[in-house]
Amino acid sequence: MKSLRYAGLLVNTTPGLEDVTAGEVSEILKDVRITLKIRPYGLQGKVLAQGDLTPDHGHVLVRRSRSAERVILLLGLSRIGRLMQDLEALYKFTYSLPFEDMITPFSRVAVRAQREGRHEYTSLDVARVVGQAILDKIKGVYGIRPAVDLRSPTIVIYAEVIGENVLLGIDLAKGVGLHERGYRAFVHPAALRPTVAYALLRVSGIREGDMILDPMCGSGTILIEAALAFKRVRLYGMDINEEYLKGAMKSARKAGVGHRILFKVGNARYLEEEFPNADFDRVITNPPYGVRMRPRDIKSLYRGLIRGSYNILKEGGSLTLLTTRHRLAKRMANEVGFSLAHERSIYLGGLYPRVLVFSK
Ligand SMILES: C[S@@+](CC[C@H](N)C(=O)[O-])C[C@H]1O[C@@H](n2cnc3c(N)ncnc32)[C@H](O)[C@@H]1O
Repeated sequence: MKSLRYAGLLVNTTPGLEDVTAGEVSEILKDVRITLKIRPYGLQGKVLAQGDLTPDHGHVLVRRSRSAERVILLLGLSRIGRLMQDLEALYKFTYSLPFEDMITPFSRVAVRAQREGRHEYTSLDVARVVGQAILDKIKGVYGIRPAVDLRSPTIVIYAEVIGENVLLGIDLAKGVGLHERGYRAFVHPAALRPTVAYALLRVSGIREGDMILDPMCGSGTILIEAALAFKRVRLYGMDINEEYLKGAMKSARKAGVGHRILFKVGNARYLEEEFPNADFDRVITNPPYGVRMRPRDIKSLYRGLIRGSYNILKEGGSLTLLTTRHRLAKRMANEVGFSLAHERSIYLGGLYPRVLVFSK
């Protein structure tokens, strides 16, 4: 492969899970000499891998990473002003980058731009200026301009302006978010992102052979991710809503792991009755945040879930929750004898839910 002049591989993830993704990246690229920067330049939700890397390593990450949202072949990172006139510097900076190493006149190019912060310009302006600079550059190098193709591009340019930082590169999954696993046969109204579901498994410290329950599994994302990532875990799912469970089973079948998960309809308030004599290693779940529930009901739901989890877990087992109701959860967990082993907040869907791991 032609050696390239680029800044590294930029891996985008859910803010708050950067270290989890960095751990995964270093496992996947364990034979490569790399250094990993978590939140480079203070950028949330980013991990930057640098070292003996080629674009092929980026493609390996696209195929194998389960917590990453995007993998970008980063060609340049710079500072940018917030005024309309600063777009001129953006044009020059884009032009200076070696896009011609990756794009030929036969490429079909699209630019996907994102912007966060206060600027006079919009993300459309960013896309227009970056696109223009790249087309001009390729024409300058090869004498022919590549085609712009927003529908089925062969190269997707990634441009992101965050405050006064600008990041430019190539989206190695061609603009498709890596959370799009392709197994969703059913849309649950509060489905968890598969990337976050996988991160919950990692944070829970799952081991092969573990017996795992998601007692409020909805469309089954956590369990499907567990089945895909671990060959020999035993998986159980429950939800109070039969329609959701039917959807979960369909998705599990589509993912090719239908035979690996046992689903049942039931109430997470009464876990000891639902799973008599059970001895789970892990309970991992994303309970309702209770936005439309009466305070009394959400309290009793969490009390039942947490007390029940304690009783069906083996000694040394753990309960992992993703919830915005972290104070309530910690109080109840403390009451039943759990100890808090891990806590972090993540940024998801405009909220800051916390990942809590309690050990028995
Ligand atoms: C936030 S959703 C879980 C979404 C799931 N992680 C997914 O990816 O689809 C919470 C789920 O809890 C279920 N639920 C609410 N109360 C329950 C109860 N008492 N027992 C079992 N499940 C319950 C709801 O039906 C809903 O599917």
